[in-house]
Amino acid sequence: MSYLMSNYAPLEVTFVKGKGCYLTDTKGEQYLDALSGVGVVGLGHCHKDITNAIQTQAGELLHTSNWYHIQHQEALAKKLCQLANMDATFFSNSGAEANEAAIKIARLHGHANNIDNPIILTANQSFHGRTMATLSATGNEKVQNGFAPLVSEFIHVDRKSVV
Ligand SMILES: Cc1ncc(COP(=O)(O)O)c(C=O)c1O
Repeated sequence: MSYLMSNYAPLEVTFVKGKGCYLTDTKGEQYLDALSGVGVVGLGHCHKDITNAIQTQAGELLHTSNWYHIQHQEALAKKLCQLANMDATFFSNSGAEANEAAIKIARLHGHANNIDNPIILTANQSFHGRTMATLSATGNEKVQNGFAPLVSEFIHVDRKSVV
């Protein structure tokens, strides 16, 4: 019996070890991790430098808050902005949270330009996350089923109509 809520339907495999782009399951079977987690471990599993950095940080300071300045966060923001030629970064914990921020920024931009009811276009057959706003933005009824009322002011369009 599982004590996890049944919101996902996982495959019958449990990974217990990762090295580079390979995973090993409980039976010792090896797999190529073509998903990189879900795009989370682009530099591979258990790289020595990344493992060391995580271990060092865990031994120094686990968590403060955005109420305070965070040295490493500010250093990384600067590096990312310089590399990407952008002005500012926003760090979030998940794809859904990043998209929530994008939705909020788009609405703020609309209001700043005297649009009372800003509407956001998203693509049919898209996926934007499982929070209320991002599942409302998602162009796939399967993700939305059962969660009405949805967040309004998203219009879903076919991809070929936006290019
Ligand atoms: C395109 C896209 N947007 C948003 C998400 C949501 O990301 P998360 O599961 O980290 O909230 C995903 C996750 O697979 C995604 O593929």
